[in-house]
Parts: sequence; structure tokens; C-alpha cells
Amino acid sequence: MSQLSQTNTGPVAKPLPHDAARLHVTGSARYVDDIPMPAGCLHLAFGTSTIAKGRITSMDLDAVRASAGVVQVMVAQDLPFTNDVSPSIHDEPLLSDGTVHYVGQPLFLVVATSHRAARVAARKGTIDYAEETPILTVDQAMQADSRFEDGPRIYHKGDASAAISAAAHTVEGVMELGGQEHFYLEGQAALALPQEAGDMLVTSSTQHPTEIQHKVAEAIGMPMHAVRVEIRRMGGGFGGKESQGNALAVSCAIAARATGKPCKMRYDRDDDMVITGKRHDFRISYRAGFGEDGSLHGVEFTHLVRCGWAQDLSLPVADRAMLHADNAYAIPAIRIESHRLKTNTQSATAYRGFGGPQGIVGIERVMDHIAHDLGLDPVDVRRVNYYDAPAEREQGGAAPQTPRSISEKMKDNTTPYGMEVTDFELHGMTDQLLESSDYVARRAEIAAWNKGQDRLKRGIGFSPVKFGISFTLTHLNQAGALVHVYQDGSIHLNHGGTEMGQGLFQKVAQVAASRFGVGMDLVKITATDTAKVPNTSATAASSGADMNGMAVKAACDTLRERMAMFLAQRHQCDAASVRFEDGKIHVGEEVLTFEEAAAQCYQGRISLSATGFYKTPKVEWDRIKGQGRPFFYFAYGAALTEVVVDRLSGENRILRCDILHDAGSSLNPDLDIGQVEGAYVQGAGWLTTEELVWDGKGHLKTHAPSTYKIPACSDRPDVFNVDLWDGQNREDSIYRSKAVGEPPFNLGISAYLALSHAVSEFGDTYPALDAPATAEQLWSAIRRVRDGV
Ligand code: MTE
Ligand code: MOS
Repeated sequence: MSQLSQTNTGPVAKPLPHDAARLHVTGSARYVDDIPMPAGCLHLAFGTSTIAKGRITSMDLDAVRASAGVVQVMVAQDLPFTNDVSPSIHDEPLLSDGTVHYVGQPLFLVVATSHRAARVAARKGTIDYAEETPILTVDQAMQADSRFEDGPRIYHKGDASAAISAAAHTVEGVMELGGQEHFYLEGQAALALPQEAGDMLVTSSTQHPTEIQHKVAEAIGMPMHAVRVEIRRMGGGFGGKESQGNALAVSCAIAARATGKPCKMRYDRDDDMVITGKRHDFRISYRAGFGEDGSLHGVEFTHLVRCGWAQDLSLPVADRAMLHADNAYAIPAIRIESHRLKTNTQSATAYRGFGGPQGIVGIERVMDHIAHDLGLDPVDVRRVNYYDAPAEREQGGAAPQTPRSISEKMKDNTTPYGMEVTDFELHGMTDQLLESSDYVARRAEIAAWNKGQDRLKRGIGFSPVKFGISFTLTHLNQAGALVHVYQDGSIHLNHGGTEMGQGLFQKVAQVAASRFGVGMDLVKITATDTAKVPNTSATAASSGADMNGMAVKAACDTLRERMAMFLAQRHQCDAASVRFEDGKIHVGEEVLTFEEAAAQCYQGRISLSATGFYKTPKVEWDRIKGQGRPFFYFAYGAALTEVVVDRLSGENRILRCDILHDAGSSLNPDLDIGQVEGAYVQGAGWLTTEELVWDGKGHLKTHAPSTYKIPACSDRPDVFNVDLWDGQNREDSIYRSKAVGEPPFNLGISAYLALSHAVSEFGDTYPALDAPATAEQLWSAIRRVRDGV
């Protein structure tokens, strides 16, 4: 029985709807703020700083304490144990220690009888500061040498500088790449219920329940076993709930401990945007040397990364940007220099792609810049530089279908960090996408159309993605599960992953149902709970289904084996011949329903509860040297976007988008297509309309949907063709599927490239176009191109 195959006999690979789809659309899905309020529940709000940098000289909170409904007011000195909510290096006090590092930093905590009373009181503090000059921009930070780590981190392969000098052609440029607000629909929220003997039960809208448990335990001076954290679902996380929920959960627990009452905290949208971290903004400079056919000889990148005031996850985010600076291209010589700058702004944090998209934008811009200068088709320039496909390598580089470098010899298929690319899918995927989207004819038609236009120009952009799957911090690549079979045959499913809308719970339930050969109705999806599965990693790095799916498979297979052994003995047959199929268990000549089998096993005193565990194989990584195998495998995708831009206003539209994405052998094609569509739109939003603006004193001016423009339904491309690549993971992942949460975010880059193309059609130069490419940016880029600057 130990050789249980991964052959699928059940719901795996079926396009089932999200398990909570009906609840979502009827408004009955329960989020933290929907939990019926426990009696006597108190509400929390932070009083926050109004300056970006300085020291607090006095804090007069009398008016706060006197405000209606206020029960208690706490400052740092009132905290019973640690004053820290950092997920990395203890550099993030929950409440200011007397120093102020950004506008919006929590200074004091108000506990009141209602949400409104707490918020009203929090505005009544009188704070005096000794103000200092803040460091807000990357230029200011570079000048002041304000950074995390001693100096820049540098990864390199070969001698990029020499390769660029020796190349026939070069391009160089600089681009500013803005940050991005997560704009999860459900804001940050937590609820703490004090238990007997100081124990604490916390419900938190978090991607990382174990982290919440850990930080709450530290803050209330208890071991982790005294704290239990539960979360059924988030209304979106997108990376913004990996660490940014710590402050709320810890505050609730501290206040619950102090008052003995349940305590709840949720940020209002404006507070959420002002207090919490966002995607890192980057300045990327590049220099590239290349041959006549566009093949890269050497590239240099410098990343100036604005990390904000605390370290949070900035180092691995900046690392991942470096690890994606090559994207899909075998670059013989490359050097990437990354500066992690400390500024007096919100502490930038994880956001879908975790730095990867910033790294990829850099090289994709280089590709289009090269194509423009050589007068080549940007897709051809990309194909010349693609990594070799595995088949080509096996055949010694014979018979490639697509244009290859002049030398026609096998490429050095190792990444800048020394990992061999063995699963490259983009040659075939590019062929298929170009054909299905009618690329060649459309490109010609657009060129002809543009010639006859003065005011409007259309543009078309192609971008591929190769995205590394695994946590780069190797030890995080582990997951656990807990599965019970009850005596009536119903199945209780639990694992360490969290649900944020991506459909993880449904996919993992499909795995469980398939292992037992039963229908989905027998499987109960349950809330993530640190008391059921301990020591979990954040649901992040897109690895939720990969890791929790495998852990659940292990637990189910343990139970299946136990059941088979017992039933075989009882019915006098070979355990290896017992089959779990179509809701039935075939034991020799006998056919039992799953319910009957469960009842017999229970009667026979068989344990019907099992844990499962998984650790991702093959990964090892030295982030200081920048060498190793940080990823188990790569996920691929390709997108083609067409836009139109108006010269007079910079107004623009995405007219059409075609995507082919690689989800391996998909666990659920409908959920995966949903992920691809959402990720593309979110990626396009990042690079087009979503603009974060801080004033000269560090105040975030765009802290509500009135001033911060996320894509609306009406911004969805009129023609939006999304397909999944018919392939399977070459590595032994869960049912040979691939992670899909973050990789397609990068496909939104094609919208930015299409806009750049449209702008370039107004003149002869390749436009220096910063992102987000808002109407304003486009308008001035068009003017520069027309004026030939
Ligand atoms: N999809 C929805 N609907 N909501 C989300 O918050 N988060 C994204 C992605 N897709 C997110 C989402 C991010 S940042 C990650 S890392 C993955 O989902 C996490 O889930 P997974 O590992 O199960 O793919
Ligand atoms: Mo996703 S940024 O890894 O939570």
C-alpha cells in the first residue's frame, strides 16, 4: 500500500466553483468583523503621529482619557512585556518608544466601548515633538546612507561591465517604479477573547496565524501554547496581511489581558492606508550591451529600494527582485546591485510577487528598448534571449522552432544565481499565444493605423514571465495538515494554509476528496487554527496549494492505508488491492460505501485521525552569496496587451488582452483562470493608475479610493482571452500542478509596455516612461517624444 499513486480518480482538476462563492456573493461569508460581538466587547484605535521624524517631547492624553466611552489609554510604558510587532528583527515597536519614524506611526492605544468612541478619542491627544528632517526619497536616503544592511547587496554572473563595453550596441536608462496599496476589500481586523488563566483566543485577518500567535505570546508574556489563533477567511490579503496584522492582534490581546474583556480592532480605510506598509517602490537603472540580433551580452542593474522605516520583509523582497532580474532570459553576464533604503515612510511589505515584479519590469523594459533601437520586433528580441527549452537541450540544440542566437549553440542555461533552468516552457507558449492572438497581422495593422492618426495611437506589448516558486528562506518550505474521518464517513479537513479568496481551501479539499475517492460533500473545510496545525508558514510565495496540498495528501494516505489494512484483514484479501473510488471502497469482492467503511473501522478500533507533513525537496539557498537553488521550479506565462492613447489628454484604454498561463496540470482550471485574470488586472493597475503620493513632509495624500485609483470593472479589457497552457509540472508537485497566485501578476507588465509602444509611435525615441503610467505621465512622455527629447 505504500506506493499510493497520484493517479486522479476524484474531484482534482475539475473546474469547481470557490467553496464559498455563494456566501461571498450573498454577503453571508463571515469575516472577522462579522463575528457576533461577544458581550462586553471593547474597541480599539491608535493615536498616530503627525510628523515623519523626530522625538516626542510631551504627550498630553487627558482629553483622550476624558473622552466619552474611553475605558483605558495605553502608551509604550504601559505595555506589560515586549513592545514589538516586527516579523523580522525586533525593530518595530507597537507603540512609539519616544521616537517617531513616519506619519501615521501608532503612539498610543485607546480602549473604548465602541469603535466610534475609540476613534473619536484617538484624535484628542496633544503631542509635542522635537521635529527632525525626515528622509523621504531614495535620493535623500542615498545621500544620508540610510539603509538596512551595511551596503548594497550584489549578485553577479560573469563580467557584465566588460561584456557591455565589448558589445556592438548599448542602451541605458532609468525608471521610477511606484509602490502599490494592497486595497484588500476587508481591512485589517482582529478580535481577542481572554480565556481562563491568562490564555488568549485570537481571531485575526492574517495570512500568517503562527506569526500572530508568536507575537501575541511575546506581548502577553505567555508561551505559544497559551495562545490560539483562528481565521476562516480574509477578504483579500495580497501580501498585506503577512505581517501588517500583528499590531492589531497584539493590541487586542494586550487590552483583553488588561481589561478581562473581549477586544476588537479594525482599521478604517484611511487609517489602514496611512498606517500599513505597501509594495516597495524602486528606482531601476540599467545598462545593456547586445548584438545585431538583439542578443544580450551583458546587463547591469541598480535597484534603489525604498523600504520605509522598519525592516519587515524588505530584505527577502529586495532579494526576490534581484532573483527575477533575468526573468526569462539566459544572460551571459549580469550584475545586479540592490540598495535597501531606510526612509521615514510606512514600512513597505510583501505584495503579490514579493519584489519579483519590480525585477522583471527592469529587464522587460530593456528588451523593448533594444527592440526599438534596432528596429526589431520586441517578441523576436525576447525569443533570441530565452533560456533553452529542455527538449532542445536534450537534442543538443537541434531544430529550434523559433529564432535563436546567431551562434545557434546551446546556451548557458544557468540563472545569475547559479540555478540551472530545466523546465523552460516559454518557446512553445509564445508560439501558441502569438498564433491565438493573431499577433503578426495585428502588429502590422496597428502600425498602418497609427500612420494615419495624429491624435490617437495604439500600442501593443508582449511580456513573458518566469517566476520562481518556493520561499527563499528555505526553512519556511514546510507545511502540516490534520485530517479526521468521523464514524459516519464525513471528513474534517484542516491545514496550515489560509484562505484569502484565492481558492486554496477548495483546491486542497479536492485533493482530500480525491485521495479518499469521495465526493466534495463529504469533506468539511475548516478554519485555519494554530491549535490544530502548529508552526506553519505564512500562506505566501504562492506555495499554499503546493505545500498544504501535499501535507493533506500525506495525512489522507496515512488514513487510507490504515483503513485498507483493516478492511483487507476483515474481508480476507490483500491490502494492496483495496481501491477507493467513486465514493466506494472495493475490498476483494466486497463493495462498501465510504460511510460503511468508516463505521467498520471505528468498530474495529482503528484510529481515524492523522497528521500530514511536507517539506519542499531540492531547495537550498545562500542569500549572502546569491548562489544555490532557491526555487523548486518555475511557473511561466505570457501576455499580449493592446492599448490606445490620446495625445491631448494622456487618457488611455486597454483594448484587448490575450494570456496563456502555465498552472501545470491545474488542480482547478476555473479557480486558476480567476487567479490569472485578477492578477493581470492588479498588475496592470499597479503600472497604470495606482499612484501613491506623499507630500514634502511625508504625509500620504492618497489614502482613500477618492484619490487612489484601483482598476474598476469597467477597466477590464473589452477583449480578455485567458487560457491555461496544456502542460504539467516537470517536478513532482501535488498532482503535477503549479503555483498560480503571484506569477500572473507580472503579466500586467504587458500593459505598461503597450503604453510605452503607443507613446513611442508619436516620435522616434523610446520614451522614458515612469510607472504608474498615469494619464499625466503619458501626456508628458508624449510631449518629450514629439519634441525628440
Ligand atoms: N487571490 C485573492 N483572491 N486574494 C488574495 O489576497 N493573494 C495573492 C494570491 N492570490 C490573493 C490572491 C498572494 S500575494 C499570494 S502569495 C497567493 O495568492 C497566496 O495563496 P496561494 O499560495 O494559495 O496561491
Ligand atoms: Mo504573497 S506577496 O507571497 O502574500
